[in-house]
Amino acid sequence: MTSTRGLITHLRHVGIAAPDFGRAAEFYRTTWGLTQVAEDSGIAFFGSPASPENYLLRVRKDDAKRLDVVSFGAVDPAAVDTLAEHVSRAGIRTDREPGTLDTPGGGYGFRFFDPDGRLIEISSDVEERDARPLERGESIPRKLSHVVFNSTDVLATKAFYEQLMGLRLSDWLADQMCFLRSGTDHHILAIAQGPHVSLNHISYEMRGIDEYMRGTGRLLRGGHDIVWGPGRHGPGDNTFSYFFDPFGNVMEYTTELETIPDEETWEPRVFEINAENSDQWGTANPITEVMIPAQFNDPDQGLWTPSPV
Ligand SMILES: [Fe+2]
Repeated sequence: MTSTRGLITHLRHVGIAAPDFGRAAEFYRTTWGLTQVAEDSGIAFFGSPASPENYLLRVRKDDAKRLDVVSFGAVDPAAVDTLAEHVSRAGIRTDREPGTLDTPGGGYGFRFFDPDGRLIEISSDVEERDARPLERGESIPRKLSHVVFNSTDVLATKAFYEQLMGLRLSDWLADQMCFLRSGTDHHILAIAQGPHVSLNHISYEMRGIDEYMRGTGRLLRGGHDIVWGPGRHGPGDNTFSYFFDPFGNVMEYTTELETIPDEETWEPRVFEINAENSDQWGTANPITEVMIPAQFNDPDQGLWTPSPV
């Protein structure tokens, strides 16, 4: 069977759901700096003026707090079909067979459950929006940078995304967290060993260091306690400021994520867990008893359950 390497191009969007939908939609629109691009009853879609992606985040009202769907872009419809074939042959539970998508921007895609029970979508040909570069000082997300999953079996989940989705390993943080890429960005997905399956965090890329700090400051001035940051990680070399959203999910502002200079010759590294690798600058608050459970989040209540949208 053909290889799946290179068929996934990028992280397209992430969907989350929770009961207090209105408060969360307000947070993302005002405080976090996303732009609402579409709305239906009980669901809102958010994008960025700097991203051609139809939307980056969707927030849906549901009795369960859950990760709704994580969507990855594929090269073209043939790539979608190839990935669907690999998933089907591996006996993975499919939610929707390849076909036309009825979410904003349409496109061609399919949905399945990954080994931990998360709903994953792969799509191509989604309608793009006009995008413009952000201006100096404009402290709103430019694009999605990456998503991080908590898994109870990091090796099995990593193997799935490498072997069936064609992602490649960039680095490890000890044996606790692995970083996977689809192109030259150091990671679009990371998988962390956790006590249960859940969303660890969603990361948004800012224009540069200045805009990342201005965004961090906007949250602080607005009375939002920083979970961890500001600082610069070892693996990925990216900056980080972590905050809670109103659902208790962790969101990150980041910038200057490392790029892999030569994908063919890249040798994954293993970073020790120590102060310098966690926070190169030494500016972030100490890792506390608040931060670790924050990243583990609540157990996901939507595993193995299709999303109605
Ligand atoms: Fe991150």
